[in-house]
Amino acid sequence: MALKIGMLTSGGDCQGLNAVLRGIAKSLYHMVPGVELYGIRNGYQGLIERDWCELRPSDFSGILRQGGTILGTSRQPYKSMIDKDDPTGLSEKAKTIIANAKEFGFDAIAILGGNGTQKTANLLSENGINVVGLPKTIDNDLWGTDLTFGFDSAVLKATSVIDSIHTTAEAHGRVFVIELMGHKVGWISLYAGMAGGADVILLPELPYDLDSVIKVIDARTNRGKKFSIIVIAEGAYSTEEMKIPRKKRENLIGTSGARLRDALANHIEQDVKLVIPGYYQRGGEPTPTDRLLCTRFGSKAASMIVEGRFGEMVSMQGRDIASVPLAEVAGKLKTIELDSDILVEARLLGIHFGDS
Ligand code: F6P
Repeated sequence: MALKIGMLTSGGDCQGLNAVLRGIAKSLYHMVPGVELYGIRNGYQGLIERDWCELRPSDFSGILRQGGTILGTSRQPYKSMIDKDDPTGLSEKAKTIIANAKEFGFDAIAILGGNGTQKTANLLSENGINVVGLPKTIDNDLWGTDLTFGFDSAVLKATSVIDSIHTTAEAHGRVFVIELMGHKVGWISLYAGMAGGADVILLPELPYDLDSVIKVIDARTNRGKKFSIIVIAEGAYSTEEMKIPRKKRENLIGTSGARLRDALANHIEQDVKLVIPGYYQRGGEPTPTDRLLCTRFGSKAASMIVEGRFGEMVSMQGRDIASVPLAEVAGKLKTIELDSDILVEARLLGIHFGDS
C-alpha cells in the first residue's frame, strides 16, 4: 500500500513555508515512488474538518520563492487542545484531530509551525500520531534549533525599513522609534537593529530605563547628531512598566513603540516619530538563505519520514541539519542570553540597550 503523508502549515505565516513544502514533496516523490501527499488546509483546522486533498508534483512547481502558504493557515491555541477535567487530558478538538488522522490512515504528518504548533504536534505524537515538526517563525524563538525559517527574511525586511528611515531621520534631525515584531523575544530587533545601524535597541529580555535612553539621545544631540534611531521589540517593557503585575502590563494601552514615543516626546527637543512595519515583515519572498534552509529542512523531514523517525522536530545545529525530540521543544522559548557574544559585540560598538 502507498504511503500516505499529510502536510500542514499552522500559526502565523512567514516566508519559506512553500519552500519547505516543496522540499519535503520533491524529496519524498524522489525517495518513495507512488507516495501519496496530502495538503491539509488551514493548519489543525483542516484536521478537525477533514479538509485535505491529494497533491500532485505539479502543485509544488514554482513555489520555492512564493510567500504565504499554498495550504492556508490558522491559529489553534494549544490550550484549546487540552482539557484537564477529561481523563485523557485531551479536549474534544484534539480527540477529533486524532480520530480523523487515524481513520484516514496518515502514515505521517509534517507539521510546519512555531511554538504553540509544535506543542500540539508533541501532544499528537504522544497520542499515537506519527509527526515530524518543522520550525517556522519569523521570531526565531523556538527552542532546540539555532535558526527557524522565516527569520532571515524578516530581518531583511526590518533592516530595509531601518535603512529607509535612517535617511529621512538624518535629513530632518528627528528621532525615530521603529517597533519590530518578535512576540516575547528580541531576535529580529537585535539582528535588524545591528544590521541597520540603530543607536538604541530595546529588547524584551532586558527591560529598559527611560532616563538612560533619553541620556543617549541628548548625548548624540550634544555631539551634533540631532537624529537617532531607536529599535524597540514589540514585547519590550520599561523597568517602570515591569513593576506592573503581568496581566495588567500585557493590557497596557498602546504598543511598546507608541508608549516609548509618548514617553520620549515630553523629554527631548526633537520630533519623535513612530514606525511600525508590522506584517510587512512576514510577507513576500524568502531570502536565498531562507530558501536554502527551507529546502534542507524539507529534505531532512522527508528522510525522517522514510526512516520512521517520528515525534521529532527538524533543527539547525551549528551548520548541520539535525533533529530534536518534540518533547524537549514543547513549551520552551529561545530567548537572547544577556551575556551572549553578540550583545557584547554590539555594546563595544556603542549600541545602547536601555540599561545604565
Ligand atoms: O509569531 C509571528 C508573529 O508575527 C509575531 O511576531 C507577532 O507577535 C504575531 O505573530 C502576530 O500574530 P497574529 O498574526 O495572530 O496577529
